[in-house]
Amino acid sequence: MITTSKNIPTSDADLYSDETLRDPWRIYRDIRDIGSVVFLDKINMYAVGRYAEVKEVLGCPSVFSSGHGVMMNEPMNQAVKGVLLCTDGEEHSAMRRVLMKPVMPSALRDNLRETVTAHAEALADRLVAQASFDAATELAQYLPLTIVSHAVGLPDEGREKMLEWAAASFNCIGPMNQRTIESFGTIKEMVGYAMNECVRGKLKPGGWAEMLHDAADRGEIAMEKASLMALDYMGPALDTTIFATSSAIWLFANNPDQWDIVRNNPSIIPNAINEIVRIESPIQGFSRYSLAEYTLSGTTIPALSRVITLYGSANRDERKWGDPETFNVRRANAGDHVGFGYGDHACVGMNLARLEITAVLTALAKRVRRFELGETQRALINTLRGFSKLEVAVH
Ligand code: HEM
Repeated sequence: MITTSKNIPTSDADLYSDETLRDPWRIYRDIRDIGSVVFLDKINMYAVGRYAEVKEVLGCPSVFSSGHGVMMNEPMNQAVKGVLLCTDGEEHSAMRRVLMKPVMPSALRDNLRETVTAHAEALADRLVAQASFDAATELAQYLPLTIVSHAVGLPDEGREKMLEWAAASFNCIGPMNQRTIESFGTIKEMVGYAMNECVRGKLKPGGWAEMLHDAADRGEIAMEKASLMALDYMGPALDTTIFATSSAIWLFANNPDQWDIVRNNPSIIPNAINEIVRIESPIQGFSRYSLAEYTLSGTTIPALSRVITLYGSANRDERKWGDPETFNVRRANAGDHVGFGYGDHACVGMNLARLEITAVLTALAKRVRRFELGETQRALINTLRGFSKLEVAVH
């Protein structure tokens, strides 16, 4: 085994090749097995793949900063400086308090649950009547792109580009590969939309984006942040939820016994969602920047290093999970997964995502006995895992 001068084992794995994006699991196992911290020599960064160590890094923001960006390339870290994901300390807490308000469980229950549920039921009626459909587009995209995007209240002009922008945002989280380079122009367009269109007068009254401007008026966040923060309700909210939903259908098509458990007992759906997010991890990993030297399970990470935390690997770490490759909706500790992150930066929108996926699975559980897979295609987006096409026949 090759090691660095600091005695850290080295790997030549490319976490962002087409091949790895399609099937990362063997590479993750190698990374977990060779050490608690591994140096990726292709991109000069460290990777942490074991569950306990991923949690330790995420739980220590004073050393492992998000404020220097969480992307694996510096141009993008500079370009999005100051968004929620890439801030630390009090600045981060203040922004987070404001952004959380409409997506807290009580606010979602009072304002969105009924609508989301009604739309999911109508969608399921429509798609089941068709007998076959593309679950990646017709099913999974519907709630995030219509109901949720309406609640955010962004101007219609440009909104149709949201999916393209969201994919580009995730591509730009990766290192400087072709996908990242090709996405930079799109990111500029998205930031331009936020700064020029997500402004008072153009936003729908009463929407979540307008509430950010109200918070800025009250001095709760800096005025210049309000427009850009509107994207926090869209960029990280779309592909993540969409990919979790299409992964759910793929998992249930491949594991009909697990779908029977859900159909017979829909109250298990919240646990099933944890298990879906654990085993497929729609976001596979972000990074942190070490502000000081830190010893993690006996391995010393130097100061001023970029460290990738692999949620997708941690969620299948055999040191944590019994039978990690098996999809088991009854798994007792499924809720321990780090698929929504962990610590200060844990997902702001997880309750919203859970609401949407619960509504879809509940509606399907009443109407569908079996999913039969047709043509499927994985989406190849840096750090995301999901489908661009997932044809299913239902009966
Ligand atoms: C299944 C769906 C989703 C998954 C798997 C997911 C996953 C994640 C993960 C892993 C993080 C942690 C980032 C880090 O550690 O640096 C995160 C943060 C975040 N998520 Fe989600 N997410 C989902 C849905 C959503 C939705 C619907 C929203 C919309 C409000 C959202 C908004 C955010 C924001 C704004 C952050 C940054 C939080 C912070 O830095 O404090 N996410 N998400």
